[in-house]
Amino acid sequence: MTTDATQHQDRIVAVCGATGGIGEALVDVYAAPGTELLLAGRRTKALERLETVAQAKGATVCTAAFDLRDRAALVAWCEEAARRGADTLILGAGVSASVEGIERDSGDVETLWLPEKNDDLLRELDVNATGNILAANAFVRALLLARREGVVPLKHVQIAFVASLAALTGLPGSPGYSASKAALRTYGEALRRLLRGKDVGVTVLFPGYVESDMSRRYQGSKPWLMSAEKAARLMKRAIDGGKREYAFPKILAVGIALLKLVPASLEHLFLNGFFFTVEPDRESRGEGGTKACVEKGCEGDPGEKASACSRGNSSATENDVDRGVSR
Ligand SMILES: NC(=O)c1ccc[n+]([C@@H]2O[C@H](COP(=O)([O-])OP(=O)(O)OC[C@H]3O[C@@H](n4cnc5c(N)ncnc54)[C@H](OP(=O)(O)O)[C@@H]3O)[C@@H](O)[C@H]2O)c1
Repeated sequence: MTTDATQHQDRIVAVCGATGGIGEALVDVYAAPGTELLLAGRRTKALERLETVAQAKGATVCTAAFDLRDRAALVAWCEEAARRGADTLILGAGVSASVEGIERDSGDVETLWLPEKNDDLLRELDVNATGNILAANAFVRALLLARREGVVPLKHVQIAFVASLAALTGLPGSPGYSASKAALRTYGEALRRLLRGKDVGVTVLFPGYVESDMSRRYQGSKPWLMSAEKAARLMKRAIDGGKREYAFPKILAVGIALLKLVPASLEHLFLNGFFFTVEPDRESRGEGGTKACVEKGCEGDPGEKASACSRGNSSATENDVDRGVSR
């Protein structure tokens, strides 16, 4: 990508995990004339589709395809976003898995619930926690240094983590997922405190059930399931309003807060209503979805372009971007 903090844009919004259900809806609510969108995901076809949609709404778009576990690519993208003058960084990439039910052979059925498979647990921690925390860390380091060097103008910057209500109370159906999201809350809190007085805010979002490919894999009740469009509107309001934390829908957030007052012996009465398992995704099934997704493409994706910027009907190639396309 190019470094170009001089071109005037009203806003520069960077979204990692832009290709997911929530990410796409966020792109839709942020796309507007005068806004530059820096969009990252793995699926190049989805990025191209987003680019078309956002351009049609008047936004300038730069896309980048990489796996969050490719640390060099992740750090480079975050540093570039900071030097380019991004005022908003939304970290929404995530994966989810759940406990594994083992049925007994005998007629007397009592399912034995095992915690997440070790590989699934590691991926949840790797992507949801390590990947997103590293992203924020790299962005903030680059931002503060760029400000000191006078490379970017001093303006308010907001960083947002997409955690989950599972960060606020450990869900027995997905202990690893809960832990990976709770890590974002603590890191976000510490970062916010570190950056006090530096014109950098940190928002940690705690969504409940939101319609997306991820939640479609949930098997069980999904109380107060919300559309991705509505969730994105609420999230934008919280991010742009500089909220420190935002949990929604309110009814579930309040329920979780009240749970802290309930004796441990009665907790299950509430939690049983939210028990769900998660169908394995492609990577969990061993069918790809890994870094190969970016390098070779997946789910019909050619994976030809690693990164590109475009505006209106014009489209800059990766080489243009590397050379530094002026906007
Ligand atoms: N849906 C819900 O009910 C719900 C509730 C609470 C919190 N959340 C959180 O909201 C966020 C968005 O989820 P969603 O519901 O929109 O799910 P989704 O449709 O499955 O989207 C997941 C996003 O994460 C990206 N991603 C996953 N693994 C990645 C990796 N290794 N490297 C780079 N990107 C990766 C995906 O990119 P590609 O698609 O390009 O691979 C996609 O953009 C997640 O952090 C999720 O935990 C969701």
